[in-house]
Amino acid sequence: MSRAPRPVSLRRLVALDGATRDAVPGKVWLVGAGPGDPELLTLKAARLIAAAGVIVHDGLVSAEILAMAAPGARLIDVAKRKNRHTLPQDDINRLLVAFARQGLDVVRLKGGDPFIFGRGGEELEECRAAGIDCEVVPGVTAALAASAAAGAPLTHRGLAQAVTFVTGHAAHGEPDLDWDHLAKANQTVVIYMGLTTAGRIAERLMDAGRAAATPALIVVNASRADEARYPTTLGALAGVAEGLSGPALLIVGEAMSLACASFETPAALAPQDDEQGGLRSVRHGEERGPSRASRTTQGRAAS
Ligand SMILES: C[S@@+](CC[C@H](N)C(=O)[O-])C[C@H]1O[C@@H](n2cnc3c(N)ncnc32)[C@H](O)[C@@H]1O
Repeated sequence: MSRAPRPVSLRRLVALDGATRDAVPGKVWLVGAGPGDPELLTLKAARLIAAAGVIVHDGLVSAEILAMAAPGARLIDVAKRKNRHTLPQDDINRLLVAFARQGLDVVRLKGGDPFIFGRGGEELEECRAAGIDCEVVPGVTAALAASAAAGAPLTHRGLAQAVTFVTGHAAHGEPDLDWDHLAKANQTVVIYMGLTTAGRIAERLMDAGRAAATPALIVVNASRADEARYPTTLGALAGVAEGLSGPALLIVGEAMSLACASFETPAALAPQDDEQGGLRSVRHGEERGPSRASRTTQGRAAS
């Protein structure tokens, strides 16, 4: 009978650090797991996951993807969650090196792409400094999945000549961004980790001159079964973001006016007109398609 992958206790792993054996070092693979949908994995990532003996993964890696690990593989969750760092980044770096020094090949599985706000660069540097062979396998970053599913291109002739990925969360407060540049029209700004700072970000952009009427889109859980999209405007962004939870992207730019335009809403399930100008959220899997049921849900009111 096949065994399910085994989660490994972090307490045991601390001991690994000093347990370097005289072995031919293994290799570390920094692998992008994409935004959640297993079908958005690269073939290379899928192959490495299935073959790995040890997988060190983030909280953003979906359960369906972890289920692709071989029976008996060691799964180590080092999830960094807001206000709850399961394992500090330095310890994760040391853990990867320690495993490799024990002669083990390690798949370090990260949500999206390892080099887009994923701290993959730090892990790569640590491996290099320790003389450990390390290879990076790119993944589909959340912004690409979110815009694709919404039918809202990040660049679009006449509406968006550029796209910029920024973080809404910096280690010491507000990110140091060039707001004047980001406020220019006809470009898309994608904000990762910006749900809780949506108000300040919108204010900065508007203070720098970006119109309050600029189309915007919030996508929560992109590519997952519970994906939800909230088309809105820059001026209403903060109100829409309030109370949302889960991994989310804020996307601001004229091209977001195309969001969800390609989806049909069955009349029986179409949201009622909301007197306050309410928003409609469209959940992943609710668009018409060969294998998906169509359904829309009433979204939150814009403030
Ligand atoms: C630490 S960053 C990691 C980004 C990841 N490396 C990538 O390329 O997508 C975490 C943030 O990415 C965004 N994110 C990741 N997965 C997401 C998803 N499935 N849907 C929406 N946003 C997501 C959210 O903004 C989340 O707070």
